[in-house]
Amino acid sequence: MLDYRTPASVAAAHPVVEGGGFVLGLGGGPRRLHPTIVNLNVEPFENVDIVGDAHRLPLPDNAVDAVHCEAVFEHLRDPEDAAAEMFRVMKPGALAFVCTPFMQAFHAYPSHFQNFTLMGHYRLFERAGFRVVEHGVCVGPSVALSDLVATYITHYSPRVVRWLLRAAWSVLSRVLVRPLDRSLARRDNAHLMASTTYALIENLVTRAGEADPPQFSSVRRWRQPSAAVAGRRRRVTLLRGRCTTPGPTSTPASAFATPPQEGNAGFESASGLANYWATQGTAVRRQRRDQARQRARRRNLTLR
Ligand SMILES: C[S@@+](CC[C@H](N)C(=O)[O-])C[C@H]1O[C@@H](n2cnc3c(N)ncnc32)[C@H](O)[C@@H]1O
Repeated sequence: MLDYRTPASVAAAHPVVEGGGFVLGLGGGPRRLHPTIVNLNVEPFENVDIVGDAHRLPLPDNAVDAVHCEAVFEHLRDPEDAAAEMFRVMKPGALAFVCTPFMQAFHAYPSHFQNFTLMGHYRLFERAGFRVVEHGVCVGPSVALSDLVATYITHYSPRVVRWLLRAAWSVLSRVLVRPLDRSLARRDNAHLMASTTYALIENLVTRAGEADPPQFSSVRRWRQPSAAVAGRRRRVTLLRGRCTTPGPTSTPASAFATPPQEGNAGFESASGLANYWATQGTAVRRQRRDQARQRARRRNLTLR
């Protein structure tokens, strides 16, 4: 499947994903976006290092250098609580890239409570204390339309013609509709029916009324990044060629001095923490498997 993310959103995610240190993939997995990302998910999928809830992160304060969070906030029961938790665990000045659906059909992982407009996304993070460095459209309106029509055909079209409609729409949307986002998603009004929007946010305690007022009549897709962000981007670009070995380096051991759970040894580095949580994930998976087996055994006994 072709990737129709806007260049602005890809550029905004870059300093977060490749910046080094302890990068938390909130709601991440089963895919791992970068070898150094530590994935946290409520389900023990493959490549999940920490099994935990975004509403109550099992991490100490000021431990995280950056957060990458894609397509997760729509699934959270209390998104305000999760944003506050993100703020708590991030170091001052740390960046987070959050991308969340706006025009998407219901999809449960395991639940789906809300979608966010660009304005709603902005307000969510600003109220949690973040400074919104920039925000805009991640995936544009043509992809939104293509996916919504596909969902409509799948669920509401007459059964007899469903497969035909699906095949026809799949070809048509791939050839004619989705590619339109190459230009439409860059327009100022693309947020009106964008599939997903993104925000690059910085952990900076803002006093009420201090943050930049959002310009929603004609939303700016690309804001001039602050000097700090621009500097970080330049450094990341310079370091890019060297960023291939797994294992973050810049997080001091002191960040993990307070173990998040009992019986947890001190951590030398973020990769130490990742290994610890990987073991935890395995233990949780094993426990769930055993419980499922016991339930199955009980069911068989009852049937006999
Ligand atoms: C649409 S998937 C996105 C997965 C991944 N971020 C990606 O882009 O491929 C949403 C993910 O959020 C996770 N999730 C849902 N509720 C969560 C919670 N309360 N805490 C942590 N993760 C959660 C789900 O388990 C699921 O893996």
